[in-house]
Amino acid sequence: MRRPRRSRSAEPVPTAGPAQATGGSGALIEVRGLTKTFATLDATITAADNLSLDIAEGSITALVGPSGSGKSTLLHLIGALESPDSGTISVAGQDITGLPGKRLAAYRRTVGFVFQRFNLLPTLTVLDNVAVPALPYRTDFDPYQRGRDLLAAVGLDGRENTLATRLSGGQQQRVAIARALLNQPRLVLADEPTGNLDSSTGEEIIRLLFDLRDSHDTTLVIATHDNELAKRCDRTVQLRDGRLVPGGS
Ligand SMILES: Nc1ncnc2c1ncn2[C@@H]1O[C@H](COP(=O)(O)OP(=O)(O)OP(=O)(O)O)[C@@H](O)[C@H]1O
Ligand SMILES: [Mg+2]
Repeated sequence: MRRPRRSRSAEPVPTAGPAQATGGSGALIEVRGLTKTFATLDATITAADNLSLDIAEGSITALVGPSGSGKSTLLHLIGALESPDSGTISVAGQDITGLPGKRLAAYRRTVGFVFQRFNLLPTLTVLDNVAVPALPYRTDFDPYQRGRDLLAAVGLDGRENTLATRLSGGQQQRVAIARALLNQPRLVLADEPTGNLDSSTGEEIIRLLFDLRDSHDTTLVIATHDNELAKRCDRTVQLRDGRLVPGGS
């Protein structure tokens, strides 16, 4: 697989700034006392229950645990796609819970999110899907040129103008990864990125993600049910009923 032609030094990712590169503990992500509940018709579900956790910059963390244990919820909270009931999440020294609109949007642009079900826009082409996260904003790069480079890097050159839904599941996941990388995120959150794929396509996706850390020191947090994938990560964080299970690696 070809690597993305991009260089963090040439085009820096917007971050909280060098003086705040990491939090007080030296970790990129510091989660403290994080609680998130969902009220449903018959019960209140505690999806994150007083969670505290540090994630080091440049590390690959597997989030594991049974279905319903809170893996997606934690990723959504770290990606600021949802806000917690209480607790804090610092990323690069900045508390990202309760950020006002513009700063929230700026933070989200530093995070690449790979959704389990790809979440591609079905009426757009492959290239438009990749470029779309940059389109509402003025950027210092050409989103279409970078989109083409990323599609080439994930092995999809020549498919730029195909409708996204015409691709196979593995190809759609590769588009989703290219889209997640458009803004050169320092942090990639991947929610069961191999969940819908056969094992050899899954292996390609894993290599693609692991390459990012090797080539760009990207921090990865990957929710997965795949024990083999979890074993290859630097660290495993296990959740149950929204709580951390002690004894992860
Ligand atoms: N928007 C929501 N509304 C109501 N309940 C929710 C919502 N999102 C998550 N939950 C509940 O929170 C709990 C944790 O869900 P979550 O999706 O985080 O689990 P998960 O570990 O990702 O599970 P899976 O492995 O099946 O993807 C579950 O009981 C789920 O039903
Ligand atoms: Mg989930």
